[in-house]
Amino acid sequence: MKLNKIYQGDTFELVKRLDDNSIDLIVCDGPYGVTTNEWDKITDIQSFNLNLIKIFSRVLKPGGAFYLFGKDNCIDFIDYRPYLTLNRKIIWYQPSRLAQGRLNYTNNYDLIAYFTKGKAKTYNLDDIRVAQLVELEHRLRCEKVPSVINGQYGRTKFNADGKNPGDVWGDIKQLTYNSKELISRELLNTIQKPEKLIERIVKASSNEGDLVFDPFSGVGTTFAVCKKLKRHFIGFELDTDFIAITKKRVRQIELEREYSLF
Ligand SMILES: C[S@@+](CC[C@H](N)C(=O)[O-])C[C@H]1O[C@@H](n2cnc3c(N)ncnc32)[C@H](O)[C@@H]1O
Repeated sequence: MKLNKIYQGDTFELVKRLDDNSIDLIVCDGPYGVTTNEWDKITDIQSFNLNLIKIFSRVLKPGGAFYLFGKDNCIDFIDYRPYLTLNRKIIWYQPSRLAQGRLNYTNNYDLIAYFTKGKAKTYNLDDIRVAQLVELEHRLRCEKVPSVINGQYGRTKFNADGKNPGDVWGDIKQLTYNSKELISRELLNTIQKPEKLIERIVKASSNEGDLVFDPFSGVGTTFAVCKKLKRHFIGFELDTDFIAITKKRVRQIELEREYSLF
């Protein structure tokens, strides 16, 4: 398959054309099984996701990464272990979600399950560090706690370049009606993801020149990020309108790049 292209069609058919062990990173933001979109009407999302894990593990390079997006229960009670290693369940926390539930605690996050095929070959921590906003009192307390490793008291090291973002990502907001990045208001919540979110994943789990695959590419957020970060890209998408939007979006980035050379 050609690089830097979106293929129109059904992922489950198109994926057969990808070579074994050919992809460095898969960003999989597909059906959640919660909206009224035709493509999102999945009765058993866990079995659906297990099937994705099986199919996509074939095309991942050893050590390649697979990020699966979903609701909090999206990988419950399924055994992915024969195919991939689950490294972390990342909570994409959205405090702005209205907490109106009366019968249960309101769900305030999406899950991003971070898998690799065996041991991760790439984890670029220095490219994804976040500011260390620690209030003084807390910082003093941290500096006086004993080390977990040897029980000795020592000063906790604070890295001036920032800290590991951890597994609760509350610093990246879902797009809102006012976001400049939002392509159309109809896409809010069910389709378009913020570039910052995808950027963290692409920076952490791939390097320049690597091949990133997005099997449900929507309006092309992953493609746009890959273009900016100099990664190669292959995407699949059912909706021709979304593919047209993606092409426009990527062309715009190319134009801005050409323009900045002058
Ligand atoms: C949640 S959206 C992806 C949004 C994307 N991350 C973005 O920011 O633009 C899921 C996309 O998957 C597409 N889709 C769903 N089932 C598909 C399938 N079987 N094959 C190809 N595309 C599919 C939908 O049309 C939709 O655009």
